[in-house]
Amino acid sequence: MHKISTPEEMLNYWKELAKKHKILLLHGELGAGKTLLTKGFAQGLGLNHTAVQSPTYAYLHTYEWKLLHIDMYRIKEYNELIEKGIIDQINEFECIIIERPKFIDQLPFKDPTILHIKKISENERSIETK
Ligand SMILES: Nc1ncnc2c1ncn2[C@@H]1O[C@H](COP(=O)(O)OP(=O)(O)OP(=O)(O)O)[C@@H](O)[C@H]1O
Ligand SMILES: [Mg+2]
Repeated sequence: MHKISTPEEMLNYWKELAKKHKILLLHGELGAGKTLLTKGFAQGLGLNHTAVQSPTYAYLHTYEWKLLHIDMYRIKEYNELIEKGIIDQINEFECIIIERPKFIDQLPFKDPTILHIKKISENERSIETK
């Protein structure tokens, strides 16, 4: 378990860790910090973090062909991932972050890092790897 005490720490911690990870699956309640973590990761890849926006409604965003950012909140069936071209996109990108992942065993990559983010207080978060 890793404890994060401020939003800035979440950004900086993942800015550093971006070099070590390719695929992150992010579990966590509303406002846990999944999108903020993605901003830090994007910075670590040399991207501008202000470009990173929540893909809850768009399903996915791509940032300069360096990072694929997906939110599966509104996905109900695996078939939708095919129909919406999301599986095709997963096959194109090396670095991928998925908020609220589903159908994990059917996704076309191996050994993702699976993280569970929990709110401890207004500004504190815990991150567990499973
Ligand atoms: N230590 C922290 N780490 C991350 N976010 C924090 C922290 N402390 C406070 N916050 C605040 O919590 C909010 C996290 O929002 P964010 O959009 O990243 O969450 P999310 O998990 O992506 O939510 P959603 O389920 O709506 O997609 C931000 O407003 C952020 O400033
Ligand atoms: Mg989000």
